[in-house]
Amino acid sequence: MQRSANAPSRRGFLFASAGLVGAGAFTLSDLSRACGKHPGANAPSEGRIAGIDEPGEPMEIEGTVYAPDGTTPAADVVLYAYHTGIDGLYRPAGQSGPPRLRAWFKTDARGRYAYRTIRPAAYPEGKWAAHVHTQLWSATVPAQWGSTLLFAGDPLLTADERRESAALGRFANIRPLTRGPGGVWRGVHDIRLEPTGDHFEDNTRHGLQG
Ligand SMILES: [Fe+2]
Repeated sequence: MQRSANAPSRRGFLFASAGLVGAGAFTLSDLSRACGKHPGANAPSEGRIAGIDEPGEPMEIEGTVYAPDGTTPAADVVLYAYHTGIDGLYRPAGQSGPPRLRAWFKTDARGRYAYRTIRPAAYPEGKWAAHVHTQLWSATVPAQWGSTLLFAGDPLLTADERRESAALGRFANIRPLTRGPGGVWRGVHDIRLEPTGDHFEDNTRHGLQG
């Protein structure tokens, strides 16, 4: 039930809020067939989302992407991750385009990835818990939503979100964070791929600048 970890209502909001629907040069199916055209194709397995000067509490997330069997690490899978800043916004008010805090990674031979960023804030309206969205694809993995990373202890988590996360077992998407030296929040977010992809609008650009 990994899909349910991305609430449809949240997905719908995502498309509208993230500005991922717009004029684009190529489609998701293009990406799946010729992902070398996307910057994610050459992305490192570890890196940053927010720059070092980004305001907020530093956060490090690491994880492993697994095949649908849940046990086989999935190498060379592009992970696109994005989130809000401490203002709860994906981009400055009045601006369009992809989320400001976004990056691509590519899993290593053991399916691993890691990124450093800042801990995101909930949307200003306070209806949804703070989160990190993920999308994944590769030459052999159809483009799909990965589970949305949520944070244990967030008072905005809903009962449905808690139930859906618990149903994912070791792939639960509500993850604990521990605070280490330097005030860095650390967590683990393992993702299990689905055998089939998700529908994306033809012009979805997976975070490319419009
Ligand atoms: Fe979102």
